Amino acid sequence: MKQTIIVGVTSSIATYKSVQLVSDLLKKGYDVEVIMSKNATQFVTPLTFSSLTKHKTYVETFDREVDYSVEHISLAKRASAFIIAPATANVIAKVAHGICDDMLTTTFLASHCPKLIAPAMNTQMLNNLITKDNIAKCKQYGMSIVNSECGLLACGDIGDGKLATIPHLIEALEEALTIDKPLLNKKVCISAGPTREELDPVRYISNYSSGKMGYALARTARNMGADVTLVSGPSELDAPYGVHMIPVHTTKEMFDACDQVFDTTDYFISAAAPADFKALKKEVHKIKKDKNTNFTTIELEKNIDILKTLGSRKTTQKICGFAAETNNVLLHAINKYKDKNCDILVMNDVSKPGAGFNVDTNIISILSSTGKVDYDIMSKKELSTIILNSLINS
Ligand code: CTP
Repeated sequence: MKQTIIVGVTSSIATYKSVQLVSDLLKKGYDVEVIMSKNATQFVTPLTFSSLTKHKTYVETFDREVDYSVEHISLAKRASAFIIAPATANVIAKVAHGICDDMLTTTFLASHCPKLIAPAMNTQMLNNLITKDNIAKCKQYGMSIVNSECGLLACGDIGDGKLATIPHLIEALEEALTIDKPLLNKKVCISAGPTREELDPVRYISNYSSGKMGYALARTARNMGADVTLVSGPSELDAPYGVHMIPVHTTKEMFDACDQVFDTTDYFISAAAPADFKALKKEVHKIKKDKNTNFTTIELEKNIDILKTLGSRKTTQKICGFAAETNNVLLHAINKYKDKNCDILVMNDVSKPGAGFNVDTNIISILSSTGKVDYDIMSKKELSTIILNSLINS
């Protein structure tokens, strides 16, 4: 059965963005109910939402077309999650104090599902101590705040108060909808993506890694309750919501970032493809082709092996390594599993269609102390749950 999400919409210039939020949630297969504050209807009409959701859009408590006295209770009971986006200073003040004077606030108070609030307002209003206090109160009552972002606001100011992006709102909802939290109070460090080693100011050595597997793992670990640090090489992917991102370029920088958190981390997942070599000497100026008529020899030196170095220092941490191979897959993978002191190792043949770099799927096997388990082709999102569960149980 589809999960029902209630989207509460209040009056802000960002109100139009909740149309996209509703549309994207529907595309993801959720059943969406919309409740608007009366003032929000000045910005977007209820018909817009009804046309998308195929449900009546609720506005007033005393709406005679529905049996209002039971409707807000039945909606509240059906909801798997309730998000108010955008949430004005006014609605935040109301829900922080249990005021329910319309359909939105009444249903919000009656709901027992995870509740999220995504503020959107002018910076001065957001920074007002009363608003800050109200937001803190909402948190104390167990509501999740999807923090606003900095940017150009409708009033012309540049500052905090911009509604979180739609992908972030959806990620926050997915986190709230994940009931099973086996990683609650656990710290997870994940390395992801490629690294780059500069040859001169315009050229570098790198590889095809996109970061997709590492980013999927970061999102799933966050949904499972973990405090996640994602150490990422250059990637075009959007930073996951609610994850501590450390952007790096070189393998040395990636090592330093992982090393800093390693001692306090519970799980270390080495999903990155760090460049194994760097130029012995990085040229200060661009290497010119006319001076090197035929071929330029670039002397390389080996980079640090992050996983192996940290694996050798392991105390209580559980470690997951990866082995991306093109031949003798099992043999190479077993060697890496032992050599790098892993608890589990995810191996895959990157030459297979649907596996490896820059695709949304992968075909993996997991090595652990109990042997090898093979998996069918799956999305990296689905695989991230399998990998995390097998690391937890290793
Ligand atoms: N790894 C690492 N630091 C490196 C190279 C690799 O931490 N400098 C990690 C990867 O994140 C992965 C594992 O080691 O978890 C295996 O990486 P892979 O590229 O498959 O193998 P390498 O150890 O680099 O060996 P080779 O390139 O010879 O296959």
